[in-house]
This record gives sequence, structure tokens and C-alpha cells, in this order.
Amino acid sequence: MVNTKVAMAATNVLPLKPSRELRDTLGRPLRDLRISVMDRCNFRCTYCMPRETYHDDYRFLKSQERLSFEELVRLARLFVRLGVRKLRITGGEPLLRPNVSELIGDLTSIEGIEDVALTTNGALLGKYAVELEAAGLSRVTVSLDSLDPEVFTRMSGGSGSVADVLDGIEHARRAGLTPIKVNVVVQRGINDHTVLDLVERFRGTGIIVRFIEYMDVGNRNHWQPELVVPSYELVQRIGARWALEPRERNYRGEVAERYAFVDGQGEIGFISSVSQPFCGDCSRARLSSDGSLYTCLFATHGADLRGPLRAGASDDELLGLLHAVWSGRADRYSELRAKLRAQAAVAQKVEMYYIGG
Ligand code: GTP
Ligand code: 5AD
Ligand code: SF4
Ligand code: SF4
Repeated sequence: MVNTKVAMAATNVLPLKPSRELRDTLGRPLRDLRISVMDRCNFRCTYCMPRETYHDDYRFLKSQERLSFEELVRLARLFVRLGVRKLRITGGEPLLRPNVSELIGDLTSIEGIEDVALTTNGALLGKYAVELEAAGLSRVTVSLDSLDPEVFTRMSGGSGSVADVLDGIEHARRAGLTPIKVNVVVQRGINDHTVLDLVERFRGTGIIVRFIEYMDVGNRNHWQPELVVPSYELVQRIGARWALEPRERNYRGEVAERYAFVDGQGEIGFISSVSQPFCGDCSRARLSSDGSLYTCLFATHGADLRGPLRAGASDDELLGLLHAVWSGRADRYSELRAKLRAQAAVAQKVEMYYIGG
């Protein structure tokens, strides 16, 4: 006998297209979800959380304002139904979120998820690498802007140390959280003179260093175009010391351009969001720790998911909301940077620490 209630409910379900057909207004699929699990950070990088703003009295989220693990896992499952295959856990500093390994254990067991990575400043990695790996984490990406202790300290706002970060990377390597990537934000006159040291230190270790052009994320980092070192300049400088050859991207939408050392000592990458925007293939969504969904790193608004979640929305209602947000997406900030910066509309961009990198 047909269960009429179920049959009716089925016909009432929102007219979701099969996940493979979900595309934004520019034809881009949704593949990659970046989940910020913690807005706090134990560093105060000048380009991300300058101490003048993020001082002792700054009001971060209260723990009940952050999405719970249960809420995050529920949302992640729904995102998978819309095409997401890859998760990245970010912050602030994600290792400050109590018991984050438990969350990673739950996320890695979701059917359809192929890759779960974590971005960290590395200071707590020595402590957590083994349990993260045991929970199923695939790999880590560690931020490290310079090996020069003075330069490092200036950029981290006086927090952390090069030794701790290197120790964290070593623990991650031993735990098998590989391939490890090291992210370096390059600023002219600040750390660009220490780039070759970083390449030399990690060449031949299997660890992939990636240089990121300094970006105008958020509203508080005093970004100026003069501070950006375009990747082509770094490719030349590094290539003059060690011969490099370009490599194909690993997958469509990969943000880094890859170069291999001709002598077989591994590869490095360049993330050139300013000089060569890659919005055309951008399949990334970002979830803030209090449950707002952002479809661009430079967005001014997010869609609140926590409200509906806590008001008892059904899976179908939430799916309908996610579907509507992604299918209405038209973001391509980096391609329009010059034009948009001239408009007041970008005055209140979301801050990087709040939605992760
Ligand atoms: P893999 O999965 O290892 O390929 O990682 P990923 O390429 O997603 O790299 P990661 O998350 O480490 O990103 C590195 C940096 O690139 C981020 O911290 C940002 O600074 C920048 N980035 C990543 N995604 C975007 C994006 O969608 N837009 C812009 N403008 N920059 C991005
Ligand atoms: N420009 C480029 N990269 C940035 N990150 C943070 N702020 C910026 C910025 N303004 C990077 C960090 C880290 C990742 C989370 O994002 O260095 O690697
Ligand atoms: Fe913290 Fe990363 Fe921002 Fe630095 S860049 S303040 S480590 S979240
Ligand atoms: Fe994607 Fe926005 Fe970055 Fe462009 S600027 S690649 S749309 S996140």
C-alpha cells in the first residue's frame, strides 16, 4: 500500500535539481566547503587580526554562538548532497576549538567526502598532530611567513615562534598528515627578502611551500597595492637560484600555480589572487563559526544558517536555502577588484579570521 503521507511529502519537497546540476550564475559548481570552527586566534598577524583592533577587550563569539559539532555535521551532510567533496577546517585558529578532533572524526566519516584538510598557524600542531591523524584528517596546511625570528614575530603580532611552528610541522610529518603545505603571505619590504630561505629550508623535504600575494581581505589590514609582490617576480627570483618548470594544476579550480624544481627536489606554488585572479573556476563556499554562509572571501554579506537551524528547519528547507544561495551567486571580486575598490560597497567586507582563508 502506498503511504500517502510520505508520497505527498515527497511531492512537496523543494524542486532540487540533482547535485551535479547545481551551478551558480556563472556556471560554477559547489565542490569545496571551508568551515571556520573558531573565530579566536593565538596569533595577531598584522595582515589579518591587527592587535590594535583585536585587543584583550575585543568581543569574540561566545561558545553557544558558534555552531555545535552536531550542527556542523548536519550542514556538511547537506552540502555533500549539493556537490561538496572537499572540506577544509579553518579559523581563526581551528586548534583552539575544544575537541576539534572529534568533529574531524565525524566529518571524515560522511559518505561522499573525499578530502578533509586543516589550515593552522602550527603553534599547537605538536600537541594535536597524532590525534588529528587518528581522527581521520588527511593533511594540514601550515602558515609560516618567515624563518627569520624577527620578521616572523613582527608579522605574527608578537605571538608564537618559528621554532614552535617548525616543531608542529615536524610532528605533522611524522604523524603522516601529508602532503604538508606551508602558506607564506608575502609583503614587499616586510618579508620578501626571506623568501629564498624558506624555499631552501623545505626543498627536498616533500613539504610544499606556497607563496600567497597579499590580499585586501577585510577592512582592517591597511592593504596597499604597493605591498603586493606579484608572483611572476617571485618565480623569477626563485628560478634564478633553482631552475623551475611549470606543472599542470592538480585539479580544476586549484588556487595555486605549481612549479617543480628541475633537479627533482619537489615543487612550490604561487597563489596569485591579485595579479592573476582565479574566480572563473571558484567552487568554494565558506561557513563562519557562527553559521553564516559566504560565497566569496571578499563578501560583504553572508546567509544566516544558524537561525533556521535552531528554529527547527527541516533538511529540505535547509537544502532549499543552500541551493538558492549558490544558484544566485555571482561573486568574482578578484576579477573586479579595481572597480569594486573604487566603490563604497566594499567598505564592510567580512574579516578573514572570521571565515578562514
Ligand atoms: P589545497 O586543497 O591544498 O589545494 O588547498 P587550497 O588551494 O584550497 O589552499 P588553502 O586553503 O591553503 O588556500 C591558500 C590561500 O589561498 C588561502 O589562505 C587564501 O589566502 C587563498 N585562497 C584560497 N581560496 C581562495 C579564494 O577562493 N579566493 C581568493 N582570493 N583566495 C583564496
Ligand atoms: N592576504 C593573503 N593571505 C592571507 N591570509 C590571511 N590574511 C591574508 C591576506 N590579507 C592567509 C594566512 C593563512 C591563511 C589562513 O590565509 O596566511 O595562510
Ligand atoms: Fe591567526 Fe591565521 Fe589570522 Fe594569523 S592569519 S591571525 S594565524 S587566523
Ligand atoms: Fe572565489 Fe571570491 Fe576568491 Fe574570486 S575572489 S576566487 S569568487 S572567493
